[in-house]
Formats: sequence, structure tokens, C-alpha cells
Amino acid sequence: MRELKITSVTLPTFTLVLSLLMIFLTPDVYSADIGNCLLCHKYPGLSRVDEKGKLRLLYINEDIFNNSVHAKVKCEGCHLDIQKIPHDPAKKVDCLAECHIKEPSSEQKFSHKDIEKTVAMSVHSKYDKDGKEKKFSEDLPTCKECHDEPLYRPISFFKQVRAGISELSLSRCKSCHKKEDFIYKFYNHVTSRMHRTRNPLNIAESCSRCHDDLQIIKRHNLSAKAAFSYGETFHGKAARFMDERIPDCLDCHVKKGDASHLMLSKENPESAIHEKNKGKICASIDCHPSASPKLAKYGVHSEFSLDRSPAQYYFTVFFIILTGGTLLPLMGIILLDLIRKLFPNAMIRRRK
Ligand code: HEC
Ligand code: HEC
Ligand code: HEC
Ligand code: HEC
Ligand code: HEC
Ligand code: HEC
Repeated sequence: MRELKITSVTLPTFTLVLSLLMIFLTPDVYSADIGNCLLCHKYPGLSRVDEKGKLRLLYINEDIFNNSVHAKVKCEGCHLDIQKIPHDPAKKVDCLAECHIKEPSSEQKFSHKDIEKTVAMSVHSKYDKDGKEKKFSEDLPTCKECHDEPLYRPISFFKQVRAGISELSLSRCKSCHKKEDFIYKFYNHVTSRMHRTRNPLNIAESCSRCHDDLQIIKRHNLSAKAAFSYGETFHGKAARFMDERIPDCLDCHVKKGDASHLMLSKENPESAIHEKNKGKICASIDCHPSASPKLAKYGVHSEFSLDRSPAQYYFTVFFIILTGGTLLPLMGIILLDLIRKLFPNAMIRRRK
């Protein structure tokens, strides 16, 4: 294999050689045809060190892959350039490629192209209103910068709602449908889409790689470390404790009923966080239904920073001084008292 140049004798290259030996000593390798990618990629040791010296793990865990939303897509369905085995170095996968799977209600070949259109209408578009490429357009997220391989996250709601597959509901499907595969696939497919595929903390983490990056913030004139400041508020703190009812980034940045990718700038009058619309998100039926529009004045992205959030800054400083100002003298008195108790005759100056 031409691509297996051994550049340095490191542990990973050693494991790679070992796993290749294992592979080629397995008799059925001779029948290696396209489609049997796991023949090699099932070995946990399959890895190499790339040009930049970073370890790349090329192992695919079959169980995890089979629980992913892409389980029905063949490896070559995404890795289109791999046409023969052994194969050449792979090209990057294009998430917008057309799939061999057909969307059942339209019978058209399935693709994610429509999502690209929504992203192009959102603030994350690489082009501005006049169709000109934005400055630093390389900072704008592509599909793979927000997504990793999504896993099914089914819910059970036969009597009560909880995480996981409901055996009771499944047994009902079984009374009419005979193939277990079919039932599991559709059960997972439908239920995992009736709620968020990620919890609020995961979503915040996926945005933080850019929205907490000071260089990106400066280049695009944003005013806050958005994910960090979210983490500082009640919302973010509850998210850290895995509360799923708490608003995540999308609950506030995407209008109800819009596609999940249509996040807009706060300057855009259509945006959910535009001055005029802000009040409505807080007062949404799932959140603070009886709140007055004034609640939206609460700084959901305030930071401990004088120029960004002066009101919160002085408020916090006041409390630091108040707590420090009362506690420190009190602790001093307790300490002096303790010294007197332990050493009743202690003196700083000697008596004459
Ligand atoms: C005969 C064993 C074997 C089979 C079968 C195989 N691969 Fe690989 N694959 C490898 C090895 C070895 C590497 C590491 C190559 C390297 O690092 O230069 C690799 C690397 C890769 C990479 C990363 C390449 C890169 O340079 O970024 C992808 C993607 C990949 N394989 C996908 C597939 C797919 C999809 C299939 C099935 C159509 C498949 N492989 C079948 C052995 C195999
Ligand atoms: C839904 C599309 C999709 C399917 C299906 C898929 N992959 Fe991938 N694969 C990707 C993407 C995206 C990457 C990330 C690298 C990139 O952008 O090309 C990747 C990366 C890889 C890598 C390289 C990992 C690395 O660190 O560079 C290997 C190896 C690989 N895939 C093997 C497989 C095998 C084997 C299968 C079938 C069991 C498979 N893939 C199925 C989309 C897919
Ligand atoms: C790869 C980097 C990147 C990722 C990941 C990313 N963004 Fe952005 N985002 C940007 C950039 C750059 C801008 C500025 C766009 C501009 O100036 O036109 C932006 C702008 C925004 C704005 C508009 C700010 C305003 O009012 O002007 C919102 C809202 C936003 N992003 C939300 C999110 C959310 C929510 C996520 C996570 C689901 C996310 N972004 C993930 C790079 C990213
Ligand atoms: C700014 C980050 C971001 C970018 C860029 C992005 N996505 Fe998403 N995507 C999300 C979030 C967040 C969700 C909602 C996840 C949830 O419901 O838990 C989502 C949901 C989805 C869904 C589920 C259906 C839906 O609409 O809710 C699909 C499919 C999807 N994205 C594909 C893509 C593709 C393809 C691209 C590239 C054209 C892309 N995404 C670009 C953040 C992003
Ligand atoms: C009372 C019998 C019955 C039960 C229970 C039942 N189904 Fe069905 N299902 C059918 C029949 C009959 C059809 C085909 C006729 C139709 O499309 O309405 C069907 C169609 C479907 C289809 C559409 C298939 C296609 O290709 O169009 C899906 C998906 C499906 N069922 C999934 C499920 C799941 C998941 C469950 C359990 C939560 C379930 N069904 C429970 C009888 C049932
Ligand atoms: C409770 C609602 C809410 C949540 C949750 C929320 N935001 Fe915001 N966001 C807003 C509002 C409202 C604004 C408008 C500015 C302001 O009032 O602070 C805003 C502003 C922004 C801006 C523009 C900052 C600027 O001043 O230029 C970005 C970027 C942003 N949010 C990203 C995110 C990300 C990423 C998350 C998740 C980690 C998130 N938001 C969570 C309501 C929210």
C-alpha cells in the first residue's frame, strides 16, 4: 500500500503495522470487496500519525455507527471517492452529496441541500445581503463544524416520558409488523426527532468553539463571549446540571416554527432576539408565560466586564466589597481571639 509510508517509529505506526498483519492473516481478506470497510476499520489499533504529527484514529466502532442516524447509509455512500480496496487516501466528505436512499414522501434522492439553503439565509452565511463574500468568511461554520455523527436518542412515552426505548410501545408495533429491524429503525427515527438531539450543554459547547474565541469575536464585531456568558447565567448553570427544560441557544436564537438553522443577527428585525421581539421569547408558553416584556431586559449574555455589562459589573463589585468588607474584619477578630486563647501571655513587645 503506497499510502503506508512509515515516517517515524512511534507507537501508533507500530500498532498500525500490527493491525495490518492481523488483517492480512485473516483468511477472508481475499474476498475483500467494496462495502466491507469494517474488515479493516473494525480494528481499534488502526491509526496513523499525520503530516502534522497528530494521531488519527481510523477505527470505526460498529455498535456506535449502527446507533447513528446514518446507520442505513453505506460507508461508500459518503466516502464516494473510495472505489477500490486497498484504497488511496480519502477525500473530505461532502455532507450535501446525493444519497442512494430515497425520501419516501417525494421519492426523490435524498440530500441535505435544503439545509444549506437555510444556513445561507442565516447569519452564518458566508455572503452578505448583497451577495458579496463577508470578511473573514473562513470563520463561518460549515456543517461539520457544528455537527459530529448524530446518534439516535429515543424517548419512551407509553405511560410516562423518559429516556430510552419503551418496550411497551415496541410490543404494540410487533403485533402488526413482523420485522424487528423495521420496528426499531422507525421507532428510533420518529421518537428521536420529537425532541432535541442534543442537550442544552452540548449545543452550547458546539457554539463555544467560535463564540468564545476572542479573535473571532473581535473580527466580527460581536460584543460578548456568548457561550461563556450563557454559562454564567441561571440558564447556563442549570444546563450544566443537565436540566433539559432550560433554554438552549436555539430556543432564543431561532423563532418558533423556523428551521433550526435560521439563526439571525440581533440587528435583523426578523430575528427572535431583535429589540422588538425579545419579550416574546421570554414569555413563551414553555418558559415564563406571564412575564411582562420588561423581563427581556435581563442580561442573558452579561459578563463581568465594565465596558460590556456596566450594570452587572457594578452590582457584582458592590457584592464583592460588601462580602469582603464584612467577612475579612470578622475573620481578623476571630484570629486575634484565637491567638489570645492559645497563648494567653503572648506579647509583641517585651515588658521592661
Ligand atoms: C484492506 C483494509 C482496508 C479496507 C477494506 C478499507 N480501509 Fe480505509 N483505511 C485502511 C488503512 C490502512 C488506512 C490508513 C491509511 C493511511 O493512513 O495512509 C485507511 C484509511 C481510511 C480513511 C482515512 C484516510 C485519510 O487519509 O484521511 C478513510 C476515510 C477510510 N479509510 C475509509 C474507508 C472506507 C469507506 C472503506 C470501505 C469502502 C475502507 N476504508 C476500507 C484500510 C482499509
Ligand atoms: C454520513 C456520512 C458518513 C458515513 C455513512 C460514513 N462516514 Fe466515515 N466519515 C464521514 C465524515 C464527515 C468524516 C470526517 C472526515 C471528513 O470530513 O471527510 C469521516 C471520517 C472517516 C474516517 C477517518 C477518521 C479520521 O480521523 O480522519 C474513517 C476511517 C471513516 N470515516 C470510515 C468510515 C467507515 C468504515 C464507514 C462505514 C462503517 C463510514 N466511515 C461511514 C462521514 C461518513
Ligand atoms: C465556526 C464558527 C461558528 C460556530 C461553530 C457558530 N458560529 Fe455563530 N457566528 C459565527 C460568526 C463568524 C458570526 C458573525 C457573522 C457575521 O458577522 O456576519 C456568527 C454570528 C452568530 C449570531 C449573530 C450575532 C449577532 O447578533 O449579530 C448568532 C445569534 C449566532 N452566531 C449563534 C450561533 C449558535 C447558536 C451557534 C451554535 C449552534 C453558533 N452560532 C455556532 C461563527 C460561528
Ligand atoms: C451553527 C451551527 C450549525 C451549522 C453550521 C449547521 N448545523 Fe445542523 N443543526 C445545528 C443544531 C444546533 C441543530 C439542532 C440540534 C437539536 O435539535 O438538538 C441542527 C439540526 C440539524 C439537523 C436535524 C434536522 C433539523 O433541521 O433540526 C440536520 C439534518 C442538520 N442539522 C444538518 C446540517 C447540515 C447538512 C449542515 C450544513 C449545510 C448543517 N446542519 C449546518 C447546528 C448547525
Ligand atoms: C394495528 C397494526 C399496526 C400497528 C400496531 C403498527 N403499525 Fe405500522 N403499519 C401498519 C400497516 C397496516 C401499515 C401499512 C399501511 C399504511 O401505510 O397505513 C403500516 C405502516 C407503517 C409504516 C410506513 C411504512 C411505509 O413504507 O410506508 C411505518 C414506518 C410504520 N408502520 C411503523 C410502525 C411503528 C414504529 C409502530 C409502533 C410504534 C407501528 N407501525 C405500529 C400497521 C400497524
Ligand atoms: C434566554 C435566551 C438566550 C439564550 C439561552 C442564548 N441567547 Fe444569545 N442572545 C440573546 C439575546 C436577547 C441577545 C441580544 C443581546 C442581548 O440582549 O444581550 C443575544 C445575543 C447573542 C449574540 C450576539 C452578541 C453580540 O452582542 O453581538 C450571540 C453571538 C449569541 N447571542 C449567541 C448565543 C449562543 C452561542 C448561545 C448558547 C450558548 C446563546 N446565545 C444563548 C438571548 C439568548
